[in-house]
Amino acid sequence: MAKSFYHIGFGADDLSDPRPTLAFLSGDPDRAHMIAATHFSDVVKLSEHRGLNSYVGWLPNGRRAISATSGMGAPSLSIVVNELVQVGVRTIIRIGTCGSIQEHVLPGSVVITKAALCRQGAAEDIAPTEYPASGDPFVTVALAAAAHKLHVTAHVGITASVDTFYEGQERTESANPILLRRMQGITAEYRALNVLNYEMESGTLFKMGNVYGFAAGCVCAVIAQRTASEQVVMDAKDAAVDAAIRVALEAAQDLA
Ligand code: URA
Repeated sequence: MAKSFYHIGFGADDLSDPRPTLAFLSGDPDRAHMIAATHFSDVVKLSEHRGLNSYVGWLPNGRRAISATSGMGAPSLSIVVNELVQVGVRTIIRIGTCGSIQEHVLPGSVVITKAALCRQGAAEDIAPTEYPASGDPFVTVALAAAAHKLHVTAHVGITASVDTFYEGQERTESANPILLRRMQGITAEYRALNVLNYEMESGTLFKMGNVYGFAAGCVCAVIAQRTASEQVVMDAKDAAVDAAIRVALEAAQDLA
């Protein structure tokens, strides 16, 4: 019987030849669907299971690709990525959202993560704390070149990849009445260390890429500006997400 992986809901036998080796990975299942519906041709649904929706189709350059969902945060991402690699994926581009912690990184722009400050529990199960959470250099350069070509405002740099949206990103306007001492002032410290943004998946993705031997990249839409507010800037979200998707798709055209 054909093997279907428990979480992603499909297996290698669901992928006819030529087998796709490239996957776009979104936190949001609707984004995974939208990428396939808007940018792939001859789309086939692989699975819509546990919110981890996956589709396969063709890019304009004649290459097959998967658009899959990681879910929110590193534990869910680690499961999906492990299973995607088992079905033959060798390049993963995360298309996410993030909050800027620098004055000059504005909502509506994108951040291309070259490396992550990885403060994630899931990654501790995969590699030592000190292990590099670095993106694949070729994917990162392809993302930067794509942003340049498309005239998308992009910032290439270091991302703080953490486990929580509220406490870990030093949000005080939340249900939690107490922010641990070690979180207080952490955003200013990261800002001084030239960290550009907060998000919740790239650190573990990059460590997995380096351990498993696949190429990982990450482009995130900036949807919050933490120097101004803790809130998401909803007005900027759609355009920023669209820019991040276009950058990832364009980069994929040039990746071997
Ligand atoms: N995603 C995050 O992790 N943080 C933000 O502020 C926005 C999106």
